[in-house]
Amino acid sequence: METTIAEVADGIFRLSTYLPQIAAPAGFTMNQFLLVADEPMLFHLGHRELFPLVAPAVARLLPVERLRWLAFGHVEADECGSMNQWLAAAPHAEVAHGAVGCMVSLNDMADRPPRPLADGEVLDLGGKRVRHLDTPHVPHNWESRVLYEETTGTLLCGDLFTHLGNGPPVVSDDLREQAMIAEEAFLATSLGPHTVSTLHRLAELEPRTLAVMHGSSFSGDGGGALRGLADAYQGRLDAMAAV
Ligand SMILES: [Fe+2]
Ligand SMILES: [Fe+2]
Repeated sequence: METTIAEVADGIFRLSTYLPQIAAPAGFTMNQFLLVADEPMLFHLGHRELFPLVAPAVARLLPVERLRWLAFGHVEADECGSMNQWLAAAPHAEVAHGAVGCMVSLNDMADRPPRPLADGEVLDLGGKRVRHLDTPHVPHNWESRVLYEETTGTLLCGDLFTHLGNGPPVVSDDLREQAMIAEEAFLATSLGPHTVSTLHRLAELEPRTLAVMHGSSFSGDGGGALRGLADAYQGRLDAMAAV
C-alpha cells in the first residue's frame, strides 16, 4: 500500500490510499485533504492503521507538527480513527467540529478538547478560509458536517459522491452514476426527509471543486453535480414511497 499525493485545487492536496480488498475487484480509496495555509488543516484523518502511511505523506508537504487544525465529516473510523495519533504528533493542533459532534462524541474521545463550530462559522486559516456547515444525517450520522473552502470554491464533501475504484485524482465527468452504484452496494446514505434539501443547500454554494473522500475529486459545475445527486436520491425516495 502507498499513499499518493495530488493537488486538486490551489493549495489543497489529496492524499489517497487505495485498498484493493475493499469492494473487490474494483477496490476503494481512502482520501485525506491537506489545506496548505498559515494554519494548515487536515480534513479526514484516516484509520489508525493508515496513520503510518498518511503521516509521512503529509510530511512530504509540510512538517506534521505544523498542523493547526484537524477536521473530518463525522465520527467513523475512516474519518477520525487516528485522531489522537495526530493530536500527539501535532502538539498545537485542535480538532474542529460542529457543536453536536463535540457534545455527543469528541469531548470524550479526543485527547485534547475539541473546538466547537457554529453552523456557517468561518475559520480563517491565513490564505484559506473554511466555512463549517452542519448537514445532520447527510450522508449519515447526527453530527455530520462538510467544509467549504471559500478562496478556491472547494466543497470538502466527504462521503457524498463516494464511488469505487482507483480513478484519477480529479475528473470532470459526472460522478452521479458511479455514486449510485456505490449507494446500491453499501446503502451508506441515511436517506430521509433532509437528504434532498441539504444537497440543494450545498449546491447553492456553486463549488468549482468537490473534494471526495472515496474516489476521484470533481472539477467543474459542482452546483449542477449536487443538484443531479439530489435528483438521484429523490428518485430513490420516490421508489421507496411507491412500495
Ligand atoms: Fe461516513
Ligand atoms: Fe468515508
